[in-house]
Amino acid sequence: MPSDDFIVTPWHVEGEIDYDKLIKQFGTEKITGEILKKIEKTAGEIHFMLRRGIFFSHRDLGKILDEYQSGKKFFLYTGRGPSGHTHIGHLVPWVFAKWLQEKFQTTMYFQLTDDEKFYAKENLTLEQTKSFAYENALDFIALGFKPENTKIIINTNNIRTLYPIAAQVAKKINFSNTKAVFGFKNETNIGMIFYTSLQSAPCFIEDRQVLIPLGVDQDPHFRITRDVAPKIGRPKPALIHNIMIPSLTGPGGKMSASEESGTIYTTDSPQVVKKKINKYAFSGGQPTVEEHRRIGGNPDIDVSYQYLRIFFEPDDKKLKSIYDDYKSGKMLTGELKAILIDKVNSFLEEHQQKREKAKDQIERFLLSEK
Ligand code: TRP
Repeated sequence: MPSDDFIVTPWHVEGEIDYDKLIKQFGTEKITGEILKKIEKTAGEIHFMLRRGIFFSHRDLGKILDEYQSGKKFFLYTGRGPSGHTHIGHLVPWVFAKWLQEKFQTTMYFQLTDDEKFYAKENLTLEQTKSFAYENALDFIALGFKPENTKIIINTNNIRTLYPIAAQVAKKINFSNTKAVFGFKNETNIGMIFYTSLQSAPCFIEDRQVLIPLGVDQDPHFRITRDVAPKIGRPKPALIHNIMIPSLTGPGGKMSASEESGTIYTTDSPQVVKKKINKYAFSGGQPTVEEHRRIGGNPDIDVSYQYLRIFFEPDDKKLKSIYDDYKSGKMLTGELKAILIDKVNSFLEEHQQKREKAKDQIERFLLSEK
């Protein structure tokens, strides 16, 4: 590992991430109070994920907010690499994207990169990644997006739309450039080497500025896209980054769809959710009840608390009282886990119904080829 003790790339995240260091390493900007005020001024409110630093960094966000104020609209774009079933960590940027879409009245593109995951994962066939793409799309639709202003792109289906744009981009990226950004080797398959052009393509699908909410691990792709944009006469994509969502089993590393025990899938039953959280959720509690009452727990490293903070408890007052009670030792780990189990299960109950309905709606969301 490099001297910083953590690694963040689109295909590999490892170690405990220091987000201030990462901002410096990547050359992004921290979301400051000033930016939050600008958002509040235009949106009328601040989403709790902004308030709590779940979205913590950006590129050019201030600029597009200023432009928006003066009447210039932008559109939204995000995506998912379909390497497995959707887990609750994936929903974080999508829920936030939904909020942005409502507040800023924009169109939205969601890219499912079945090709990318086929290139990147030794053990997945293209049929499998494509089938995960459809599965993942259901979860996205279930969050309440509307087909009138939301289009889903599946790379191998929509290549006719993507390719002419990707070609413009690809011509401006040279090998030493991607190699430096991603650490490609001579053995790397050439699909991977071309891939950034395809992830860049939706940035230029409409003739105006784009804003991309995304996990910070995806930033390197768009760093390249931003360098290319002026060379092809297009605006640089603006970005807003979220932190990596910890896996159930503990801090360090993001929630990975391929690691069963540390992962809560959107299709898990209430019993499975309960079992996974009770058995695997990394705890900031003390080894015995006695000690816990005396010393108190540590919510800052407790994954159940973190899930409440990141996603499941939007109410700041409730969250604070959970924090205080756990820290003082008044609340035990089992009680904290019970709160999370309850929240996750009531969220999933509704989500799973909407996910079923999405099966009849999906065709209306898929971008059609002209
Ligand atoms: N490469 C992303 C992943 O592995 C998927 C993706 C495609 C994406 N386009 C995007 C993510 C735009 C964020 C924003 O998950």
